[in-house]
Amino acid sequence: MSQYSIAVLAGDGIGPEIMQEADKVLSAVAERFGITLNRKAFPVGGYAIDNHGEALPATTLVGCEQADAILFGSIGGPKWDTLPLEQRPERAALLTLRSHFDLFSNLRPARIYPGLESLSPLREDIAKSGVDVLVVRELTSGIYFGQPKGREGQGDEEFAFDTMRYSRREIQRIAVAAFEAAQKRKGKVTSVDKANVLMTSRLWREVTEAVANDYPDVSLEHIYIDNATMQVMKNPAQFDVLLCSNLFGDIISDECAMMTGSMGLLPSASMNEDGFGLFEPAGGSAPDIAGQGIANPIAQILSAAMMLRYSLNQTAPADAIEQAVIATLEAGVVTAELLPASEQHRAASTSEVGDEVVRQLQRHAK
Ligand code: NAD
Ligand code: IPM
Ligand code: MN
Repeated sequence: MSQYSIAVLAGDGIGPEIMQEADKVLSAVAERFGITLNRKAFPVGGYAIDNHGEALPATTLVGCEQADAILFGSIGGPKWDTLPLEQRPERAALLTLRSHFDLFSNLRPARIYPGLESLSPLREDIAKSGVDVLVVRELTSGIYFGQPKGREGQGDEEFAFDTMRYSRREIQRIAVAAFEAAQKRKGKVTSVDKANVLMTSRLWREVTEAVANDYPDVSLEHIYIDNATMQVMKNPAQFDVLLCSNLFGDIISDECAMMTGSMGLLPSASMNEDGFGLFEPAGGSAPDIAGQGIANPIAQILSAAMMLRYSLNQTAPADAIEQAVIATLEAGVVTAELLPASEQHRAASTSEVGDEVVRQLQRHAK
């Protein structure tokens, strides 16, 4: 029997609420497919600062190292916003984990499912045009990690600086990830940059063009980030794979999430060259709705499906979860943020959505 160990890092805000639903779904899928998914929880983020003195305790890091995959919730919130940057949950825990495990390849799939166009805020004809975009985001370099980074000087002369830096090798490996993904999809890579202004973008274009030569069956186009954000609204069906640097991918993935209806629908996989990964919703800890039982658990549940697919090689259970999620949305069991004001009365809670996904999983069991 297949056995896996999963480090579960629920984190802050809505993190624990939505993780509980992913946990239910993993139990159901494990039972249905006869696999063992041993899950062990570890403290992370603001919760870990409050209870263990740091955002990423050593026991958590060791737990992640010993696991087959990391399932991550979300971290951060107003309580920890005033800490120095290097102690904040975002940098001290999440960026450290990404860097420690070299999770350079971040996949964020955004899709408007046929029949579910009404969830999208896009105009009906645009929502119905066949929207299926994969954001492939470079995750361990660029302006997030470039050195130097800091503040100097005083008074009006004080200044702050970040460094945007990319090596040929770093661009090459994320470009390869994008082309490989496009080969299994519609065969089109659109590389997002700001080559009219940035040196890093000029190198990005050069390297991407070179990688494209190895993939004659995949087409390559370049687009500036400002135009890209506009085109995602105007005509998202033109895109297949969007290849992005760290910061541009961060921005455009929130837009792609919203295009499908909610930040709470977009899962993500962050992988290294060995296939080890961290799986988390693209959205954050949502302090504005935390603690109310109304957060959408779908992105967390779909992140668990991506974990099964990409790190554990369990394709059938991953497919089953994705089908159960679509069936849940089709059944109209959705959280409040997916509904217009006039339909709020029929909003499901976080746990009702999780229960429905479990029910759909069991219903379709053979
Ligand atoms: P956010 O993604 O937490 O929230 C943005 C908006 O989307 C909010 O209105 C929120 O209610 C909504 N939203 C997000 N997830 C949702 C869900 N599952 N269901 C329904 N609505 C959802 O972004 P923010 O407010 O800018 O950031 C809040 C905190 O989260 C910050 O501390 C930020 O640094 C952190 N953050 C963490 C992660 C992560 O852990 N991976 C990702 C992004 C932001
Ligand atoms: C994301 C988040 C993170 C990022 C933050 C929390 C560091 O916004 O995963 O998109 O910017 O990468
Ligand atoms: Mn983000």
